[in-house]
Amino acid sequence: MRILVTGGRGYLGTHLVPRLVGNGHDVTIVDSLRRSLDVELPASVEFYQIDIRDASAMAECFAARPVDAVVHLAAMTFPGESIEQPDECRSINLEGTRTLLEAMHTAGVRHLVFASSCAVYGSPENYPVDENSPGNPESPYAETKLAAEAEIAVSGKSTPDFGAVNLRFFNIAGGNSGASIERFSAATRLIPAAVRAARDPGSSILIRGTDWPTPDGTPVRDYVHIEDACRGVELALTVVSPGQVQTVNIGSGIGTSLREVLLAVEGAVGQTISTKVGPRGEGEAAAIVADISRAREVLGWQPNKLWSEELIQQTS
Ligand SMILES: NC(=O)c1ccc[n+]([C@@H]2O[C@H](COP(=O)([O-])OP(=O)(O)OC[C@H]3O[C@@H](n4cnc5c(N)ncnc54)[C@H](O)[C@@H]3O)[C@@H](O)[C@H]2O)c1
Repeated sequence: MRILVTGGRGYLGTHLVPRLVGNGHDVTIVDSLRRSLDVELPASVEFYQIDIRDASAMAECFAARPVDAVVHLAAMTFPGESIEQPDECRSINLEGTRTLLEAMHTAGVRHLVFASSCAVYGSPENYPVDENSPGNPESPYAETKLAAEAEIAVSGKSTPDFGAVNLRFFNIAGGNSGASIERFSAATRLIPAAVRAARDPGSSILIRGTDWPTPDGTPVRDYVHIEDACRGVELALTVVSPGQVQTVNIGSGIGTSLREVLLAVEGAVGQTISTKVGPRGEGEAAAIVADISRAREVLGWQPNKLWSEELIQQTS
């Protein structure tokens, strides 16, 4: 399959693209390099440094590199950054998605896999959450992911042969086996930050609230391994069907508290992590864990790898 990956030079794309190439796909990347990782691309990959909001550059790209499907990863990806820069977030995540959909429409590309997020659920009352749980975005990031899903649904209605799968990723963690710790650390998220803090006695981890209504008082999240996330994208590409827009959770289905992550990292690195306790983070959920029944049914997907196995490999 000929696949265009937007945002293909970020954390997820850096792992997804070699996998797609390895499985025989012809891959083109569009990335503005706004927040990319400096990782060498497989030789066969064509890279365009384009902002997805640039309609004419996107049209030129589709004209130069005909594709069968798009995997749309490009986004402002951190809820905190989106609260600081809400206009830029709406511009990239929503206007950018609209521009992409228009360019796809003009180029006759009808298959899309969109990287959405569990953030669309906000702070659910109960967990696990399934795809029918109401959207309750609590940050511009979450709001734009939900709005982008709605734009995709409109495309599905207005273009009969258009099909899409929205993958609502939970917290993606880990790095390819054999990747360096630097590459693993490039994702500035909890687990790599905890590894850094364990290695550097001068640094610490800020725990935003220890009084959440969870078993140990710290927030509970669902960490899905990056290889499983990438496999989810690849399977989604095979089930995109004309006239259907489907939405599927991609998580491990297992809740892990922040304290449990820190303990696992301490065990793997063999050092204690110093922590500071601050107030609860704005718009944060106490606990969010995926119901992954639909991923099993629709994609034939299930998680195969635990983030903690990876951690032991990466830190040993
Ligand atoms: N990593 C996670 O845990 C997670 C969880 C839920 C959803 N997601 C979603 O998955 C996708 C990929 O996430 P990631 O962790 O790889 O994020 P990332 O920030 O590492 O990568 C995003 C990529 O998009 C590019 N980009 C940003 N704005 C652009 C623009 N206007 N035009 C072209 N390229 C642009 C960046 O340069 C970067 O390479 C995102 O849409 C994100 O919202 C990720």
